[in-house]
Amino acid sequence: EKGGYDHFMLKEIFDQPASLTDCLRGRLDSENMTLTLAGVEQHLSVFAQAKRIVIVACGTSWHAGLVAEYMIETLCRIPVEVEYASEFRYRNPVIGPGDIILAISQSGETADTLVAIERAKEQGAFIFGVVNAVGSSIARLSHAGAYTHAGPEIGVASTKAFTAQLTVLAMMAMKIGKAKGTLAEAEYNRLLGELALIPEKVKTTLATHEAIKEVAKHYADARDFLFLGRGYNFPVALEGALKLKEISYIHAEGYPAAEMKHGPIALVDENLPVLFIATKDAYYEKIVSNIQEIKARKGKVIAVISEGDTLIRSMADHVMVVPEVDELLAPLISVLPTQLLSYYIGVERGLDVDKPRNLAKSVTVE
Ligand code: F6R
Repeated sequence: EKGGYDHFMLKEIFDQPASLTDCLRGRLDSENMTLTLAGVEQHLSVFAQAKRIVIVACGTSWHAGLVAEYMIETLCRIPVEVEYASEFRYRNPVIGPGDIILAISQSGETADTLVAIERAKEQGAFIFGVVNAVGSSIARLSHAGAYTHAGPEIGVASTKAFTAQLTVLAMMAMKIGKAKGTLAEAEYNRLLGELALIPEKVKTTLATHEAIKEVAKHYADARDFLFLGRGYNFPVALEGALKLKEISYIHAEGYPAAEMKHGPIALVDENLPVLFIATKDAYYEKIVSNIQEIKARKGKVIAVISEGDTLIRSMADHVMVVPEVDELLAPLISVLPTQLLSYYIGVERGLDVDKPRNLAKSVTVE
């Protein structure tokens, strides 16, 4: 059942070229350059006229929501808020006509997310679910939705569900942006082509697993870890930190890289590994100077870099290399080395990576 892998987590990480192909199947047709997303198409005018989109989710799904905020604001010019479901539900939030609630959930059973959308539904909001588990409570409660089709996820730490969520959210933003006219035809076509290449690029990235395992050996004894990224890669820093905490019990924090100087930099010394998500994008130069600031304080730098990058390679203590990707889709690729790193560090520490202590696969209690 683990398909020859030692753990479900590893199997599910390596499933991603296939799970993303499943997610794209019947939706993305790169030969004819078409994108079909029935749940969105049936309600296109609701989306095109939306005043606001409020994303509600927990944990890893909330991180996918943060990436979606960047995607939707960029491509659709609709204001987006990303809410922890647990806070949103208890807060008497201001919701009105023209608001869309976008619930993101792997299990479709997370209690806080479920109650949050129940409340919003009572107040007349339109509920759209991005859910993995077919027929689950959140899927049934939504007015419409799009399944992520990642297949069952058994490892407690979410991996392939996250990348499938990002894929669906990217497709949604592209469809809505095109319908609204905020995403130009040429740019839409370019992104469509980029999206079609993702499963292959995932495969290329996963093929570097031996190198990542080596990196893991150097950091298995760390007590703390900092994860930093900017733009589309900022939520990846949060996700990387969450995964490491869950799987290795190493204390880890994720931050937008520029926030570092507002506090976390006080932690930096020769014992603190700082992992930068530093792929080639609009923020590259800024990230380079953030890395210099860490090196100047003798911090250990691990960087996720794009193929061909020699500058950061020369500055970092260790690098994990990924293929070049459009920045909007970058999280789909840049998260992979962090999944593998957490896995190998957890294994190196002799932990049960499939069933971390104190955690359950779906959190059906408050
Ligand atoms: C992290 C993880 C959790 C879930 C969270 C939401 O690896 O698995 O943080 O992401 O409990 O679960 P779903 O997506 O099922 O609503």
